[in-house]
Amino acid sequence: MRIIKWGIIGAGNISASFAAALKQMEYTELAAIASRDVNKAKDFAGKFGIRKAYGSYEELAKDKDIDVIYIGTPHTEHMKNAELCIKNGKAVLCEKPFTVNSKETKYLMDLAKEHKVFLMEAMWTKFLPVTKKVKEWITNEKIGKVKKMQVGFGFTVPYNESNRLYNYSLAGGALLDAGVYPITYAVHLMGKLPVQVVSTGVFLDNGIDVQNCILFKFGMDAIAMLSSAINAEVGKEAIIIGDSGKIVIPNFWMADKAVIYDQKGNEIEAYTEDGRINGYEFQAYEVNACLRTGQLESKLNPVQDTLDILSIMDGIREDWGLKYQQDLDSSHSI
Ligand SMILES: NC(=O)c1ccc[n+]([C@@H]2O[C@H](COP(=O)([O-])OP(=O)(O)OC[C@H]3O[C@@H](n4cnc5c(N)ncnc54)[C@H](OP(=O)(O)O)[C@@H]3O)[C@@H](O)[C@H]2O)c1
Repeated sequence: MRIIKWGIIGAGNISASFAAALKQMEYTELAAIASRDVNKAKDFAGKFGIRKAYGSYEELAKDKDIDVIYIGTPHTEHMKNAELCIKNGKAVLCEKPFTVNSKETKYLMDLAKEHKVFLMEAMWTKFLPVTKKVKEWITNEKIGKVKKMQVGFGFTVPYNESNRLYNYSLAGGALLDAGVYPITYAVHLMGKLPVQVVSTGVFLDNGIDVQNCILFKFGMDAIAMLSSAINAEVGKEAIIIGDSGKIVIPNFWMADKAVIYDQKGNEIEAYTEDGRINGYEFQAYEVNACLRTGQLESKLNPVQDTLDILSIMDGIREDWGLKYQQDLDSSHSI
């Protein structure tokens, strides 16, 4: 089997988790790391046994020996980092949220088509075996017709102006960082876009949201209650309620277990994942498979899905009056 050679842009937290997964995958080589600081790149390379350490993202993008580049930088950097990779003919797996707004996603989508390179958002939750099982249960109407979903994703990060989560210029806030998970999950499991979106949030003086609640209406069929926060443990569970039972997925965004209950609360069926490296490998397996077969997009996570989610988040922010610098920049208008 062809070995896929990976490079990573940004030697931060999530890049370390992704590197740990790549290092244990078969027919996969983590061949290079790029940081804005060569010493940081060297440290990262030493920790993960990576052959090449670059002190600029450009050097990695131009490395002819690399098949695909993973982007693990703050949201605001994703578009320019992905643009650099695509223009140098590199396949791209870019962290969530894929970009700050839909305008940037559309730009990258068109650019990847023009350059005929693979492009995907690292929405790892979609690739988890549990998520695939839950989707199968819903399709097979194991809980009847879906009527309601409750999905929350919140955590507590103490306020710190320099933390990217609270930093307006790095597109901080709960919606983009955490809210992208419940929104993507609800749309993915329903298999369609909401016809109505209503929301509210709690905001800091710098404009960013620290907490939000979002309601989706899916035609006449179902509603979803979604919430996210960076200042409170608002839950990390998904509950999918049908007309004959419910599915509960603890820690849905990284789930390794899901349970079906009947309407009386009796456990009917449970699914537990067998084993994993750290969960980030499933999306990487998908990228490897696409590259080996010459697919420019993942069927499970095409860029159009990402564009749809960014468009929903654009609409929510518009209702709130929350604009980031990228919304005001007209250099990449659709
Ligand atoms: N999938 C997941 O489970 C998951 C989890 C956490 C975060 N994420 C996503 O991954 C991205 C990075 O998050 P993180 O928590 O890993 O962030 P982080 O620890 O701050 O790392 C981001 C890295 O990006 C690089 N960078 C480039 N431009 C930067 C700038 N202007 N300011 C700060 N850093 C810059 C830096 O690497 P160099 O200095 O080496 O260039 C930095 O170490 C975010 O978009 C986030 O939403 C995903």
